[in-house]
Amino acid sequence: MAKREPQLLSGLTDTVGGVVGSLVNDVRGLLGSIAEGILNPDDKRPEPGYEFQAPGAGDSRGPCPGLNLLANYGYLPRDGYVNYGQILEATARGFNMGTDLATVLAVFSILADGDIATESFYLGAGPGNVGGLNRHSTAEADISPHREDYYTGCGDNHHVSSRLVKQGVDIIKAGSGKYDMSAMAQQYAKNADFSKKYNPFLYAFPFPQIVSLGAFAFYPQFFSNGTYGAGGVPNYESVSAIVGWQLNEKTGHFEYVPERWPENWYRRSFPYGAVEALTDAFLQIYPANIVVPGASQLLTPNFNVTNILCDVFQGIRSITPLGLAGDEKDAGEAADWALSKLSPVLGVGALGCSLDTLSPDYDGDSILFPSASQTGGPINSPSAQASNAGNNVYNKVYFTAAPTKPACNHAYSS
Ligand code: HEM
Repeated sequence: MAKREPQLLSGLTDTVGGVVGSLVNDVRGLLGSIAEGILNPDDKRPEPGYEFQAPGAGDSRGPCPGLNLLANYGYLPRDGYVNYGQILEATARGFNMGTDLATVLAVFSILADGDIATESFYLGAGPGNVGGLNRHSTAEADISPHREDYYTGCGDNHHVSSRLVKQGVDIIKAGSGKYDMSAMAQQYAKNADFSKKYNPFLYAFPFPQIVSLGAFAFYPQFFSNGTYGAGGVPNYESVSAIVGWQLNEKTGHFEYVPERWPENWYRRSFPYGAVEALTDAFLQIYPANIVVPGASQLLTPNFNVTNILCDVFQGIRSITPLGLAGDEKDAGEAADWALSKLSPVLGVGALGCSLDTLSPDYDGDSILFPSASQTGGPINSPSAQASNAGNNVYNKVYFTAAPTKPACNHAYSS
């Protein structure tokens, strides 16, 4: 490398003592593996007529790389406002996700983050930064593969984190060179350790926990070029392009770029469904670092009664729909009632569950919890978190260092 690019290497060595240079070498060393085995030409993606187009400023994108990518090619509406039928069709066509798995994910996201009457939701933030998949502690959860926790990220739970990508690169370099199940279990274990240590509001309730654990298994199962376990490879090219990161060889940081398929990419050739996802999540990923649902702080320095009650509060909220209409009105009112009773006590009352853990909830018309509109109201997020709740902004670097305290004042570089 010194021979080929003497200027680059000497510049890097001068500034950061060769650290960047060795990262550049690591990443280059991981490039080059290709899909093996028998590939069905019908599985090549994208299909004709589905062109990549980077999302524009008004397009909603959030924590799910799979859905973001599908919208970038027009398999889903490019504006990121999607409905149930579109999700089922696009996830099967683009990635061969089983209908049962897509149904579970879509139904819960509509219930918790979207609109039941129109069976729709936004991929990132909804209007006014309310709802959408960015909404924390619903489907979106802490301990994600390459996103920070809502609390430590100061509301930014949806951009790719440079330091987590770096951590993952170190793991695969020491292992098979691939994002296989073992590498993802190690990434999960490290992320879970970090969250237990630094996030007193670490949130793991059954449904979101399943989504986030499943997401680790999705790397090999969906992002491999070809079929995982049958010649397909979860290589750096596939994963970095699909999840959307790019090494800046000058700074040594990973930029978050729009999600796209690499050249010559084949989806898995048979569906991966709910049973397989749960089996992988609970047999291959979760054992690497147990996080007790509903009481994530157990066995950590952050364990105390207040935090456990706050877990319960977040849990009830996570199964509370964002907005309800028609026949569900009674259920909505019941949920409102429960939250209105709990919030003053657990949210801002004597127990003081931190508001720093809650996404904004109120959209002006929603019947969910009208009192949330009051300044500092029961579930009204503090402004620092709320200002980070918007849609993904690409071509920037996020989180060059580990946020051991809520990273509310961190500067993003372009
Ligand atoms: C069927 C509808 C889907 C819904 C509603 C959905 C929703 C979500 C949500 C809410 C998250 C955030 C989880 C967290 O905070 O850890 C997420 C993350 C993720 N999703 Fe999806 N998803 C869907 C389909 C897919 C598909 C088809 C793929 C892959 C092909 C996929 C791959 C992932 C991955 C890898 C992550 C973790 C990203 C990271 O932090 O590195 N999802 N998804």
